[in-house]
Amino acid sequence: MFRFHVIAFVTVLMHLALLARTAPLQTRQIGNIQCNLDRLNIVLSLAAAKSTAGKLSTALSNSPDASNVQSVTDGISGAQGAIGVIGKALLTGQSAPADARQEVSGNLTIATTALGKISSSDSKVSSTLATAQKQLSDAVDAGNGVIANCK
Ligand SMILES: *[C@@H]1O[C@H](CO)[C@@H](O)[C@H](O)[C@H]1NC(C)=O
Repeated sequence: MFRFHVIAFVTVLMHLALLARTAPLQTRQIGNIQCNLDRLNIVLSLAAAKSTAGKLSTALSNSPDASNVQSVTDGISGAQGAIGVIGKALLTGQSAPADARQEVSGNLTIATTALGKISSSDSKVSSTLATAQKQLSDAVDAGNGVIANCK
């Protein structure tokens, strides 16, 4: 999954670079360097967070937090799906659909809220929780960076 998203993202960037040479594109679609680093960071952070959520899912499968872990995973997958929609739009020379942007942010909120409800007295699990929190907040920061820098 991680590898897939990285490859998909790099493919998007390569196509954008090619498109930029063959057709005039809006600056918003190509983006500056900071914009593209933010785009890359949200993809990478979400892939990392998903992998960490998978560890939490295993560790907490029989706990009352299992459904919260599921919400974390669903939120991350939802955000990834919406990012895929945005990537496809950019590839075909359209600007990012506003509702897909909203879905990224809505799903990140779901994942972050659900993650915040989970706690564990097991130090290994709480350390994994802290890792997931950091990765999700990196994704949120990168998402804010996209909004600020991709114009
Ligand atoms: C989460 O993302 C999916 C698409 O991946 C979307 O259908 C859904 O509406 C989003 N949820 C929120 C709360 O934005």
